[in-house]
Amino acid sequence: MINPKRRIGIGDFRIGVEEKQAINNVLDNGQISEGKTVAEFEKLFAAYIETQHAIAVSSGTAALIAGIVAMTHASDMNVRPKTNVVTTPITYVADSNAIVTTDLNPVYVDVDPETFVITAENIKRHLEDVDDIEQYSLVLPVHLMGYSCDMDEINKTAGNYGLQVFEDCSQAHGTTYKGRKVGSLSTLSCFSFYIAHNIQAGEMGALATNNYELIRLVRKIKANGRMCDCSTCKRSENKCPKLISYAGEDDFDPRFTHEFIGYNFKTMEFQAALALTQLKKANWIAKKRTENVRYLNEGLDQFSDVLKLPPFNENTSYMAYPIVIRKPQEFSRKKIRSSLENQGVETRPLFGCIPTQQPAYKYLKKKYAGSLPIADNLGKNAFYIGCHQYLEQKDMDYIISVFKNILND
Ligand SMILES: Cc1ncc(COP(=O)(O)O)c(C=O)c1O
Repeated sequence: MINPKRRIGIGDFRIGVEEKQAINNVLDNGQISEGKTVAEFEKLFAAYIETQHAIAVSSGTAALIAGIVAMTHASDMNVRPKTNVVTTPITYVADSNAIVTTDLNPVYVDVDPETFVITAENIKRHLEDVDDIEQYSLVLPVHLMGYSCDMDEINKTAGNYGLQVFEDCSQAHGTTYKGRKVGSLSTLSCFSFYIAHNIQAGEMGALATNNYELIRLVRKIKANGRMCDCSTCKRSENKCPKLISYAGEDDFDPRFTHEFIGYNFKTMEFQAALALTQLKKANWIAKKRTENVRYLNEGLDQFSDVLKLPPFNENTSYMAYPIVIRKPQEFSRKKIRSSLENQGVETRPLFGCIPTQQPAYKYLKKKYAGSLPIADNLGKNAFYIGCHQYLEQKDMDYIISVFKNILND
């Protein structure tokens, strides 16, 4: 039973004719650093998310950092360093890392046990008890595993307290909420195109918004705070708006004049080229993942006294197939995960509750002890397997048979 030939991963990326062609086009164009392919991606991604603008950056983490920093510089956002950001304790650690490294403080509220996302009710309850609301400036919900947060209620609650909302859609490209794509539902949103996600490029990220000031700020921040904010450089056409407006200044070069302290979060043309090939298949990818969740749910339903299966929702573009163990005393996560792995089914833990279970955040452990029971349970007893678009029925039948072996043993 150990070491089967079959390997069912969390994600899969197939390099076919289109992907090879896209890379060859970049090579033939002769420019590999950010250029027209990135600009094309930004245009088509904004159209896909149904926002006015999108901007590419080097990763989802970069998108989070650049987005928060841009909000702190924007004219009327009131997002300030040293203030609190209400966010989820159950997510990939990048959200908290971005908050802390941009000099804001994460404040965690518990999540919905069904869909793992923070609830407006918990945010509201937390804010109602706050002594000084001036210490808060942002709410950062994450649409985990593809499940949308209740954005109407979150926006309403944040609005009542004068807070901005920045959605993290890194695991939910294509999910819709009340008929609109996640990523178009708040002031700013971010995405990751990491290899295991719904739309993949290996490594890349993006931000989407209807606020042009934020886009212009991110364009500067992602290039070490330089003055340039055009989507493609117009110097060679003698149309650089900065050179024109600073015409009188001696030897002025906007590429090397820095307005902000920033980062290098630029992407390569190759990444955008690969992302574009996946964007063309995005509807098929989301549909296939949703169908796979339905199939796995039907096959695994026989174990529903032991395993809590993911709620099915046809508007959800699933990043993966999350499972919560209901009876951890009888079936430990460690045992189930290692049995699955030994039989070729890749698994990952559902991230761990950040303030109570992640070593990097141990300074918060005491403060949050006992106050995030749902996140604590998910962090200990939940894991996920793949439901990606290249799984065939025989792969899913195999997964179901492996669970049968483990749970009926
Ligand atoms: C919810 C969430 N946000 C942000 C990120 C960070 O994205 P990246 O790995 O592209 O930096 C991830 C990555 O998995 C994620 O799952």
